[in-house]
Amino acid sequence: MFMAKTIMYTLQLSCIQIAIALLLFTQAKGTTEDTSALHPNDAPASCVAGERSALLSFRAGLSDPCNLLSSWKGDDCCRWKGVYCSNRTGHVVKLDLQGSDDYRQALAGNISSSLLGLQHLRYLDLSDNGFYKIQIPEFMGSLHQLRYLDLSSSLFIGRIPPQLGNLSNLQYLNLESYSDTYSTDISWLSRLTSLEHLDMSQVNLSTIVHWLPVVNMLPTLKFLGLSACQLRTCPDSLQLSNLTSLETLDLSDNQFHKRSRPNWFWDLTSLKYLYIWENGFYGPFPDEIGNMTAIVELDFIYNNLVGMLPPSMKNLCNLEKLASAGNNMNGSITELFHRLPNCSWNKLQDLFLAESNLTGSLPSIPVQRLSNLSRLYLANNSLTGHVPVWIGELKQLTTLALNSNNLDGVIHEGHLSRLEMLEKLVLSDNSIAIRVSPKWVPPFSLKQIHLRSCQLGSKFPTWLRWQTHVWSLDISNTSINDMIPDWFWISASSVEYLNVQNNQITGVLPSTMEFMRGKGMDFSSNQLGGPIPKLPINITGLDLSQNNLVGPLPLDFGAPRLETLLLYNNMISGVIPSSLCKLQSLQLLDLSRNNLNGSITDCLVNESSTSMAGLSITNLSLRNNNLSGAFPLLLQKCTRLMFLDLSNNQFYGTLPAWIGEKLLSLSFLRLRSNMFHGHIPVELTKLVNLQYLDLAYNNISGSIPRSIGNCTGMTQTRGNSDNLQYAFNYISGVNDNVLVVYSENFTVLTKGQERLYTGEIIYMVNLDLSCNSLTGEIPEEITTLVELKSLNLSWNNFVVKIPENVGALIQVESLDLSHNDLSGEIPAGLSALMSLSRLNLSYNNLRGKIPTGNQLQTLEDPASIYIGNPGLCGSPLSWNCSHPEQVPTTRERKGDAMSDMVSFSLATGSGYVMGLWVVFCTFLFKRRWRAAWYSLCDNLYDHVYVQVAVTWASFRGRING
Ligand SMILES: *[C@@H]1O[C@H](CO)[C@@H](O)[C@H](O)[C@H]1NC(C)=O
Ligand SMILES: *[C@@H]1O[C@H](CO)[C@@H](O)[C@H](O)[C@H]1NC(C)=O
Ligand SMILES: *[C@@H]1O[C@H](CO)[C@@H](O)[C@H](O)[C@H]1NC(C)=O
Ligand SMILES: *[C@@H]1O[C@H](CO)[C@@H](O)[C@H](O)[C@H]1NC(C)=O
Repeated sequence: MFMAKTIMYTLQLSCIQIAIALLLFTQAKGTTEDTSALHPNDAPASCVAGERSALLSFRAGLSDPCNLLSSWKGDDCCRWKGVYCSNRTGHVVKLDLQGSDDYRQALAGNISSSLLGLQHLRYLDLSDNGFYKIQIPEFMGSLHQLRYLDLSSSLFIGRIPPQLGNLSNLQYLNLESYSDTYSTDISWLSRLTSLEHLDMSQVNLSTIVHWLPVVNMLPTLKFLGLSACQLRTCPDSLQLSNLTSLETLDLSDNQFHKRSRPNWFWDLTSLKYLYIWENGFYGPFPDEIGNMTAIVELDFIYNNLVGMLPPSMKNLCNLEKLASAGNNMNGSITELFHRLPNCSWNKLQDLFLAESNLTGSLPSIPVQRLSNLSRLYLANNSLTGHVPVWIGELKQLTTLALNSNNLDGVIHEGHLSRLEMLEKLVLSDNSIAIRVSPKWVPPFSLKQIHLRSCQLGSKFPTWLRWQTHVWSLDISNTSINDMIPDWFWISASSVEYLNVQNNQITGVLPSTMEFMRGKGMDFSSNQLGGPIPKLPINITGLDLSQNNLVGPLPLDFGAPRLETLLLYNNMISGVIPSSLCKLQSLQLLDLSRNNLNGSITDCLVNESSTSMAGLSITNLSLRNNNLSGAFPLLLQKCTRLMFLDLSNNQFYGTLPAWIGEKLLSLSFLRLRSNMFHGHIPVELTKLVNLQYLDLAYNNISGSIPRSIGNCTGMTQTRGNSDNLQYAFNYISGVNDNVLVVYSENFTVLTKGQERLYTGEIIYMVNLDLSCNSLTGEIPEEITTLVELKSLNLSWNNFVVKIPENVGALIQVESLDLSHNDLSGEIPAGLSALMSLSRLNLSYNNLRGKIPTGNQLQTLEDPASIYIGNPGLCGSPLSWNCSHPEQVPTTRERKGDAMSDMVSFSLATGSGYVMGLWVVFCTFLFKRRWRAAWYSLCDNLYDHVYVQVAVTWASFRGRING
C-alpha cells in the first residue's frame, strides 16, 4: 500500500493478490450448499421454544457492538436475522452469522455451548467475525447434523479441536485463519468421509509430515486448500489415490523446496485449478502438466522453475489462466506463444508472464484466435522491438502490462483505438514513444496509466483529458516540456496516486487543489512556480521539491493525514506558519534550501494550549534557509525526532538542556553554521542514540562533557537501525508507480572533503565540533566512541594532549585535531587506526617523534598532516629526531586575549597565525560579527591578511573538493 517503506517488486504483490483473488473466486464457486431451509419470511413453521432459548443464551455470550442481532427478539426465532428453520419440522437448521471483511460489522466474545441446543443444525457460518483470543470450542464436534461449517477468518487462535472429526456428515469445512491457529495432528480429518470442501489455509501445520495420507482418506473431496500451512513435505507419488474428484488444489506458499517432478499432484487428472505458487519448486516445468487435461487455471508464480513450458502443454484445451511469473523461462516470447495450447487459445483470458526472463520481440500471431485475452502481463522481461499493432485487436483486453522491458518504437492510435475495455495501461520503463493526434479521443476509460520514462513528446498529452476515472497516473520522466493545461487538474482530480516528476512542466498549482483526491502526489523536479495552495484533504505524501515555488507556506495546509512533505530546493519565503502544528501525522518534513526566515513558531500562539498533542515527526530538515531565533521550542513536542537538521541558518542563543530530556530518539543532530553560543549542555549526552553530532561553525565554548561516552549511538552498532531506515528512507507508491521517493541526503565534511551521503548516511557516525571556541582538554572518554567514522575537533582551543587511547577509535576514517593548542607527544596508538584515510594534526604544539607504521605510511600528503608543530621530528618531516638540537622544543609565541569572545595568539618567527584562525574560521560564516571584529583590530588585519587569504583559499579548496 501507499505507506510501504521498503522497496519491493510491487508487481510481485499484485500477482499474488491476483492469485489470491482467483483462489477466492474458485472458492466462492465451490460453496454451493443445499440446506433445504427456507428464508424465515417464507416459513410457516414457528420456532421451537427450546431452540429459541438456546439462541438467546448463545447471544448472551456474544458481544455485538454493532447490534447485528437486534432482530433477535420476539417469539418466532425463525424470523430472526441469520436464523433459518426447516419448513417441514420447524427446527433451526441454518445459522448464518457471517461478519464482514473489515471486522467493523462483526461479532466477538464467547461462543456458548448452548449452541448444542440446536441439534438439528446443518449449516453454521461464523466466518469473518472477531472472536479474538478464543479457541474454536471443542463442543462444536457434537453438532452431529452439521453439513456445513465455516469458521474462517474469525480470529480464533490456538489448537483446532480434533473433536471436529466427530462431524461425520460434514461436507464443507472452512478453517482458513488469519490468526494463530495450529494443529499438530490432523488424523481426525480422516473421519470426515463425506467432505467435499476442506480449507485449512494459514493454519500452522508445520509439525505434520504425513498430511497427504490423511487427506487421501477423503474420497469425495473436490476442494483442498492448504495454502500457507508451513508444510514442508510434498510426497513424490500417491499410490491408490482416492482423490479422483479433486478439482481445486491450493498448496501455495508452503516450504517444499524440492524438484518440480516427481510430485504426487501431477497425477490428479481431474484437477481444474492448481495453485502451487511460492513453494520453492525447482527444475524444469514438468511434462506431466500435460496429463491434467481438465485444467482451467494453473498458477505456479515465484518458484524456481527453469526453461520453457513443456510440449505436452498442447493437451490443455481448457486453459483459461496461466500464471508463471517469477520463474526463469529463459527463452524467446515467440517460443512461448508456440507452446501455448492451440486448442485453448480462444479460451485464454489471463497470461501472467512477468519476470520470466523472456527475450525477443512480440511475434506476429493470428490475433483473432486470442479473442478472449483479457489480461496480458509481460512486465520485467527482456523483450525488444516494437509493440505490434495486433495488440490493438485484442478487444477483450483490460490490462496491458509491458513495463520494464527494452521495447522501443512508436505506439499510435492504431494500437489503442479499439481497446474499448482497457483499464490498465502499463508501459513504464521502455523506450516507447506514444504518438497520437492531439485531437484523438480514446475509446477506453483507464483506471491505471503508467508511462514512466516513455516519450510522450514535449506537449502535454491531450488524450489524458478524456481519462477522468484514473486512479493511478504516472507520467514521470516523459520529456514533457509544457505548461500544465487547466483541464489536467480536472481529469487528475480523481487520481489518488499522481506522478509527474522529472519533466519540464511549468505552470502553477491550482487553488482548487484541496478538492483533488490525491493520496500520493509527486511533482518534484519540474519548473512549477507560484505559491503552494491548500493541500488535498486525503493526501499522505506530497513531493514538490526542486521546483520554482515561491511565496509563503499556506496558512492552512489542510491535509490532516499528511505524513511526508518534501518542499526542498524551491524559493519559498516567509515564516513557517503555526498551521504546521496541525499536521499531527507528519513524519518527514524537508524544507531545506528555501528562503524561509523568521523564528519558528512554538505552536502555542494560535492554538489553545491544551489541544497541542505531540507531533509524530521523525525527520526534520530546515537546513540552508535564513531562519533565526533561539533553538525552536516547538521541538519539545517532537519527541519522536530522530533526525534534526537546522544547519546553515541564523539560529542563536544557547543549546537548551531539554534537547537531552525530550528528544530521546534523536540520532542525528546537525546545527552546523549557526550562531549558537554557550556550553555543550551535559544533558545532550543523555541522547543515547546520538550517532551524529555536528555543531561546527558556531561559537560554542566551554569543554566537551566527559559523559560524551554515554552516547551509545557512537559506541555500539545500531540496534534500532530499522527505525532509522524508516525515518531516513521513504518510498511510497502503488504497484509500479513509485512516487515520493526520499532518501535523507546531505554533504558531510569528512576526510577533508564534502561528500554527498544519501540513504547510507544512516551508517555514518560523526562527531564534528570544529570551528568553535571549545577549550580545555579533549576528554579521554572520547576514545570510547569506537564507532566513530569521523572526528573533527579542529579550529578550537583544546589544550594539553591528544587522548592517550586514541588508537581505540578503530573505525575512524577521518581524524582532524588541527588548529588547536595540543601539546605533548603523538600517542603511538595512532598507528593502530587501520581505517584511517585522512589525518590532520597540523598547527598545534605537538612534539617528539611522529609514530610510524601501518596505515600512517599510506596517508596522502604526509608532511601537511604535521605542519605547524615545530616540536615534531622524524619521518615524514625532514628533520631527524637523532639531532634534537635542530628541533625547537617549544614554539615561541606571543599572544593576547583580545576579548572575552575569542583569544588568539599570533605566532612569530615562522610567520603563521595561530588562534586567529579560530576567529577567521568563525567570522567568515558570520558576516555580522566580522564587521565588528575588523573594526576592533584593523591594524592586525593588514598584518595577517595575506597569509589568511592564502591559507583560507586552500581550506576552501578542501571543502569544495
Ligand atoms: C419447503 O417449502 C418450499 C416452498 O415454500 C418447497 O419448495 C420445499 O420443497 C419445502 N421443503 C421441504 C423440505 O419441505
Ligand atoms: C480411500 O478412502 C476410504 C474412505 O475413507 C478409505 O477407507 C481408504 O483407505 C482410502 N484409500 C487409501 C488408499 O487411503
Ligand atoms: C503423465 O505424463 C507422463 C509424461 O508426459 C507420462 O509418462 C505418463 O504416462 C502420464 N500419466 C498419465 C496417468 O497419463
Ligand atoms: C536469464 O537467462 C540467462 C541465460 O539465458 C541467465 O544467465 C540469467 O541468469 C537469467 N536471468 C534470470 C533473472 O533468471
